[in-house]
Amino acid sequence: MSGSDTWRIRLAEKRDVGELVDIEAAQFPEPWTKSMLLDEITNLESRRYTVAQEAGVVVGFLGLMFVLKDELHINTIATRAGYEGRGVATALLDEAWAEVSARGVARATLEVAVSNTRALELYYRYGFAPVGVRKNYYEKTREDALILWADVAPRSSNGRSDSPPVGPAERSTDVP
Ligand SMILES: CC(C)(COP(=O)(O)OP(=O)(O)OC[C@H]1O[C@@H](n2cnc3c(N)ncnc32)[C@H](O)[C@@H]1OP(=O)(O)O)[C@@H](O)C(=O)NCCC(=O)NCCS
Repeated sequence: MSGSDTWRIRLAEKRDVGELVDIEAAQFPEPWTKSMLLDEITNLESRRYTVAQEAGVVVGFLGLMFVLKDELHINTIATRAGYEGRGVATALLDEAWAEVSARGVARATLEVAVSNTRALELYYRYGFAPVGVRKNYYEKTREDALILWADVAPRSSNGRSDSPPVGPAERSTDVP
């Protein structure tokens, strides 16, 4: 898929929900329903959902939940099947980290299936580290989840200089 990676990142809107449902269905064993996703997207009090859009197609999304003034939970992140490995998730996280650290968020947490090595590799690049396990966290698979925590800092200033570049210059970030 390389060579056409020209996406922009923007806040998710109600009209995106159909595409988010499609991405969820393809990427998660226990996908969220349309109404769950709509509740998340429209909860502007405590959530921040962004999408990466390329040529009119939503190719990935990220959902954050603000827990305390300086703390957030990553509720979900997924890249559209067939668009993985091009830096979509990295771009979504980079944009989010820059935004939330400017707002004073200092720490982030999430749960991830112990077998989800692709997601773990991504999270480790952002300084996430395991602090515990939730046994049988996932209803369908009964798989355990790792609980990860990280200090939040914009990508350029948190020592992750060995990370791959975000992508070509034509990628743009367009979030109010
Ligand atoms: C985990 C997930 C979100 C990662 O998304 P992604 O868009 O493929 O992630 P990225 O492309 O940003 O980074 C992944 C890889 O691409 C590489 N990459 C980054 N930028 C790149 C670019 N411009 N071109 C090519 N590869 C790139 C990264 O180095 C990374 O390599 P790795 O294999 O060593 O980890 C995706 O696999 C997914 O949707 N999984 C299913 C849902 C899921 O499990 N979500 C997490 C729940 S906790």
